[in-house]
Amino acid sequence: MSEIIRIAVDGPGGAGKSTIAKLVAKKLGIEYIDTGAMYRAIGYKTSVKGIDPANLPAMEDMLSDTTIDFVGGSIILDGENVDGAIRTPKMSMMASKVSQLAPVRAKLVASQRQMAAAKSVIMDGRDIGTNVMPDAEYKFFMTASAEERADRRYKELVQKGIDADYDEVLKDIEKRDYEDTHRELDPLKPAEDAIILDTTGIGIDEVVERILGEVK
Ligand code: DC
Repeated sequence: MSEIIRIAVDGPGGAGKSTIAKLVAKKLGIEYIDTGAMYRAIGYKTSVKGIDPANLPAMEDMLSDTTIDFVGGSIILDGENVDGAIRTPKMSMMASKVSQLAPVRAKLVASQRQMAAAKSVIMDGRDIGTNVMPDAEYKFFMTASAEERADRRYKELVQKGIDADYDEVLKDIEKRDYEDTHRELDPLKPAEDAIILDTTGIGIDEVVERILGEVK
């Protein structure tokens, strides 16, 4: 592919963004960047180091001594693969909390823009179409009802052998929706020129086809 295409996929937690973005990336032969994993990695490190996210100088110290990369689709935090460690309900809440902090967003957004420079990518997150790649060629905003998203997350956790309770998962989803849409910095909202995809009751393949139909 000679022409560069950048695809932004935003939406609330559990809307199926990463599953779908990964499939689209494969079909188009372009790179997939999971920005949520980067916020989760920072949340994980904050938690492991016992840092209070409200302590901004401590957060800044930690950030200046942190590297995050993607290698073969895995997220590498300071040289360690943290794919498994970051995907727990606790880390979802930690990610949402640290993502509200200006120094965290500044570091990760700069790194995301660098990753998307001069190559074709599909990137998913909350502020990709509005802030990270406002000039992306294609923008999608993927959503689904909170109940359906909770159901998907619950099944995912159970499948991984993680002990989960549906009502707890739903409560966490609603809390995270509230935090992600009401925060001061780059809150979750559709870009004005985003195509809205409501995936409630719609299968993965259909959503992938819909995106490919727009991109081609
Ligand atoms: O997509 P996810 O569930 O892995 O994201 C975890 C948290 O990270 C989410 O609650 C908000 C934050 N996030 C963000 O603020 N900006 C992004 N571009 C991606 C995620």
